Amino acid sequence: MDEKENRYALAFKQIARIINSPLPVKKMVSGVCASATRGLQAAGCTVMLLNPQKEYLDIIGAYGLSDMYLRKGPINARKSYGDILEGATVAVDDVQLDKRTQYPEQAVKENLKSLLGAPIRQKGEVIGEVRLYTRVKRRFKPHEKDFLVTVANILAVTLEKIELNQYLNKQHESNISQQKKLTSFSDLPMRPIRPMNFGHPSEEEFARLLDFYQVEWLYEPRSFPLSTDNGRITEMFTPDFYLPEINLFLELTTARQSLITEKNHKVRKLKELYPDINIRLLNKSDYLKLFAKYGFITPGENKMTGIGRLLLSKTQIQRRVKLLAKQISRDYQGRELIMVGILKGVLCFMSDLMLNMSIPVVIDFMAISTLDQQVDSAVQILKDLDTEIGNKHVLMVEDIVDTGMTLNYVLNYLSARNPASLKVCTLLDKRVRRLIDVHIDYVGFEVPDEFVVGYGLDVAGKYRNLPDIGILE
Ligand code: IMP
Ligand code: MG
Repeated sequence: MDEKENRYALAFKQIARIINSPLPVKKMVSGVCASATRGLQAAGCTVMLLNPQKEYLDIIGAYGLSDMYLRKGPINARKSYGDILEGATVAVDDVQLDKRTQYPEQAVKENLKSLLGAPIRQKGEVIGEVRLYTRVKRRFKPHEKDFLVTVANILAVTLEKIELNQYLNKQHESNISQQKKLTSFSDLPMRPIRPMNFGHPSEEEFARLLDFYQVEWLYEPRSFPLSTDNGRITEMFTPDFYLPEINLFLELTTARQSLITEKNHKVRKLKELYPDINIRLLNKSDYLKLFAKYGFITPGENKMTGIGRLLLSKTQIQRRVKLLAKQISRDYQGRELIMVGILKGVLCFMSDLMLNMSIPVVIDFMAISTLDQQVDSAVQILKDLDTEIGNKHVLMVEDIVDTGMTLNYVLNYLSARNPASLKVCTLLDKRVRRLIDVHIDYVGFEVPDEFVVGYGLDVAGKYRNLPDIGILE
């Protein structure tokens, strides 16, 4: 056997051992990257998977490349060597000059010269790719391309195995936890999440929430240098999530106050240095409230126990609803109006609102699934409209808009049916918590960042029959 064949044999021997080991996903895939790099005497390797919307690539394992390079920013599946995802094995002589390189500056900094990329296919469909990099110019030979295509095939089977295992584990967990009370999103028997290495369980829970509402996310796609010393980076910040559709970075904190202060400091510094970057800090109490929203806390005994403080009295609510009804009646004078409410929270508000309207209205309701009742991993319409809304004037009526994810989903759904107009009315607006900035035409009250119940609003199905709105203890 010549030296090259020996190297290939050794690489495949290592790869076989790695993929048959109990290593976690990232370690396994990065191990395959290392063996592939050595097998082809290259400088580094990455394995990337298409995210569900197929617009971006997530790096799920890498070898031989700097963290700064790996976290250079979101990798656009079409802009960055889109031909690989079309199914081609692509060899690039000069990465730094090639038009298909999405981050040429970073390629220069990392001193990358040539690239070889191969698609990862499962059941005939491209799900991601493997890329090999060199630091000296290289023209890849046919047997080298063959080598990488084989690595890509092995990765495809490995990923399928990982997904199957995740799925079986989830099934098993949900069988034993059937009796047990659900305490977090990850206890839910849902489809497994993309193989990602979350630094903290709360990040995975948050990713599930985003998946559920079909909001595209990337995990830690970019690092921001915050301080440098003689060109060397001495302080760096990598926000947890990036939501490309709304161009927002998110940093989650669950930790102690001292760490929150430090993160606050970093976020402030980042905003100063990169004024064009949108970033938000989401702290523990923020997503405790997200969890509470899905009933992962236990409410008290009678109608009022558990209410810490009254926020809006019955009288305040009634007065405001009358005013809203008057304003809406005036705005829709002479037009046919369909009010569409989202069950069940909107019940009281919808009823009082329509009773106070001075124009004729048609009402309809939709029900959409929430995370806690969901076996599948995406939001579903449980009850659709009974009315045809094409060319009609539609007013969406909501109890409360929080992150905006529900509203965003429903508005997309309704506008696809071509109404003549589509406006939004909500009783409560928790604006400080907005993630998706949906336009709201009529707002009853702006409320603080607290979990509120009553007047239709619930926690785990309770408190809806309070005539006032209160803050949960
Ligand atoms: P979003 O998708 O985060 O905007 O959440 C909207 C939905 O979450 C609402 O329709 C409510 O059902 C629920 N929700 C959000 N905040 C609260 C709250 O403070 N109390 C009760 N339900 C809430
Ligand atoms: Mg609702």
